[in-house]
Amino acid sequence: MTKQQQSPRRIIVGVSGGIAAYKACHLVRDLKEAGDDVRVVPTSNALNFVGAATFEALSGHPVATSVYEAVDQVQHVRLGQEADAIVIAPATADLMARLVAGRADDLLTATVLVATCPVIVAPAMHTEMWLNAATQANVDTLRSRGIIVLEPAHGRLTGTDTGPGRLPEAGQIAQLVRVALAGHRLPHDWAGRTVLITAGGTQENLDPVRFLGNRSSGRQGFALAEIAAHRGAQVTIIAGDTEDLPVPSGAVVEKVTSAREMAASVDKHAGSADVIIMAAAVADFRPKAQAGAKLKKGADDSALASIELVENPDILATTVQRRSAGELAASTLIIGFAAETGDERLSALEHAQAKLARKGCDLLMCNEVGTGKVFGQSHNQGWLLAADGRVTEIPEGSKHAVAAEILAAVDDLASLD
Ligand code: CTP
Repeated sequence: MTKQQQSPRRIIVGVSGGIAAYKACHLVRDLKEAGDDVRVVPTSNALNFVGAATFEALSGHPVATSVYEAVDQVQHVRLGQEADAIVIAPATADLMARLVAGRADDLLTATVLVATCPVIVAPAMHTEMWLNAATQANVDTLRSRGIIVLEPAHGRLTGTDTGPGRLPEAGQIAQLVRVALAGHRLPHDWAGRTVLITAGGTQENLDPVRFLGNRSSGRQGFALAEIAAHRGAQVTIIAGDTEDLPVPSGAVVEKVTSAREMAASVDKHAGSADVIIMAAAVADFRPKAQAGAKLKKGADDSALASIELVENPDILATTVQRRSAGELAASTLIIGFAAETGDERLSALEHAQAKLARKGCDLLMCNEVGTGKVFGQSHNQGWLLAADGRVTEIPEGSKHAVAAEILAAVDDLASLD
């Protein structure tokens, strides 16, 4: 679905009293710019950090914190009943405790208590508070009730502390809200699973300034990591060249440059992975010789005009072979990607079917590319091909929505337990 084909969705942005409340301003703007109707419901403590005027200006709606404001409009019931999604960012430890207790003593908690739409809670607090048994028990309770509690990001907190507890970036939260609006529940049922994802393009150096490479933004791989991490998995991304993308909360990124470096990293991590997803655009060939100094026109004409290439390892096929050889657990699920164009011989889908058979992976996500499709775009679509011949059409959606579909297909494939 592209932006604004439908009437605006009604999204409530709840804000509780933490320093990260300022990031809620960016979230409101992101959702508004996508055409959604956004109302901000702060707690009274949140207004110690960001003024009501800011939220009113950004959302275009009045702001209230108490059930005793605008009583004639029965706001404490109506907002929750009419909402398509509620996102609370930041959610403090105290706010989550109040949600667990079913309190309704301010407009935000009353709204959540009434709502039947998806509720997304983005916690932000100091690491000690996040790791406290009381908070963790509250998070478990909220998740068991179907509330989507996002993983906090890891990094610099207020003051000099670092650790888990940061609010993810507004754009990341907005993407997850859209995934929930598209009907994905994001259950926290991948806890205990390890997921390895390759993303981005590899670069094969010819000399210190020139390289051969594949175009890839890395967005689909990072979106997969984001969804897997919020479903509780431990995620490692092996990233080649990508756009400047925020690290998904709860994921670790290992940077590589060339296909051979990517292959070595995958080899290192594959043994401990339950699910391996290869979304990287790996350069199939590399220059046979890599010059240590910049090649010069004139002096090095022959080296520049005709570059001898050698084939790179096929990381996906090699990983499948390692599984067949018993070096990886037989239960390891391996998913590949294929960016295809149709030609006079075969359609894009037929090329993908042949590729799935050739590579031997369990699932292959095929996108049809060309004429501005897919590369660097925030949306994607295609077919998901399973080794048993099933073909599932993946409708156009954000790369996060497509990621959620792919992980749902992994759920269908086999029990990983
Ligand atoms: N892949 C890989 N190692 C390579 C090439 C590709 O692991 N050297 C993986 C990609 O990450 C992707 C899948 O294989 O998951 C298909 O990539 P693609 O480039 O479409 O496959 P190729 O085998 O290179 O086929 P083509 O001839 O269509 O380029």
